[in-house]
Amino acid sequence: MTRIKTGIFGLDQLIEGGVRDNTAIVVVGSSGTGKTTFAMQFLMHGIENGEQGLYVTMEESPEQLMKEAEMLGWDMRKHHEKSLFFIHLKGKNFKKMIDEQIPQLVKARSDYDIKTRVVIDPMTPVIWATEDKLQQRELIGKLFYTLKELGVVMATVEEHSRPGEMVGEDVLLPVYLADGAIGLEYYPIGGAFNRTLKIIKMRGTHHGEGVYPYIFARGAGVIIRTSPAEAVKLEDGADYSKVFDEAIKTAEFIKAPESVIGKLKKMKETWTYNYSPEEVLQVMFDSYGLK
Ligand SMILES: Nc1ncnc2c1ncn2[C@@H]1O[C@H](COP(=O)(O)OP(=O)(O)OP(=O)(O)O)[C@@H](O)[C@H]1O
Ligand SMILES: [Mg+2]
Repeated sequence: MTRIKTGIFGLDQLIEGGVRDNTAIVVVGSSGTGKTTFAMQFLMHGIENGEQGLYVTMEESPEQLMKEAEMLGWDMRKHHEKSLFFIHLKGKNFKKMIDEQIPQLVKARSDYDIKTRVVIDPMTPVIWATEDKLQQRELIGKLFYTLKELGVVMATVEEHSRPGEMVGEDVLLPVYLADGAIGLEYYPIGGAFNRTLKIIKMRGTHHGEGVYPYIFARGAGVIIRTSPAEAVKLEDGADYSKVFDEAIKTAEFIKAPESVIGKLKKMKETWTYNYSPEEVLQVMFDSYGLK
């Protein structure tokens, strides 16, 4: 069975190498947990590897999103209208667009034999469009069903869960209808475990069952620390450029792709964490299959 690499460093290792093709994955988490970053990284990974990307957006305009991407170190503009396309759904008439517009679009693309990744970020407005659970289920179900024809769909959903709840009320339906679900949590208390990820479900996949801390690295994106037991000790004022230099040298020596070396260089410039990047660099090397 082919697995599609998400491109989120560390995630593929937890889900048997990637997600199954033509499936829908939801990323749930409260505001600011990193859902958009996840979605963009997933999309850009495909585009960097010759695939196409479709970004379905409701709240933010393509222009705003491209600016946000730039701050995270991704050049979306370069691919805009070439391999990256936006659908900006304004207004409230989701039913019409899910029933008519999106199927038309998918049909129009069905002749192209090119892999497409789809991002719906955020999907929350579709849920909020109606209070009727049955209608919500129809809308979300149809959206997934139609877009899965193109390739892997990643949808983000806002979560408002109460402490102790496994998943919040709003996300029950999308989690239920999706083939896979990833939960992001943020405890604004500082330290190495303040942002964590867990895999809620992944159909047909033996997945990691831990709670994994992750970090943001400008230029590379999200990196999941897949060995939670080995959180690296904090060291004050240490200079980690040597660790990066070593990694860059190794990457050059084994002829890693230019884009990978570029990511390492950007990370070297912007690393602000007060712990060694060794562990996350290892996760990145593993993700690219570099030894
Ligand atoms: N390079 C970075 N270093 C540290 N933190 C970062 C970095 N990049 C992003 N962040 C953090 O990630 C957060 C935003 O992530 P993102 O926009 O992906 O979240 P979101 O879940 O989509 O949020 P929203 O609910 O607003 O859509 C920012 O608030 C910021 O704190
Ligand atoms: Mg967002």
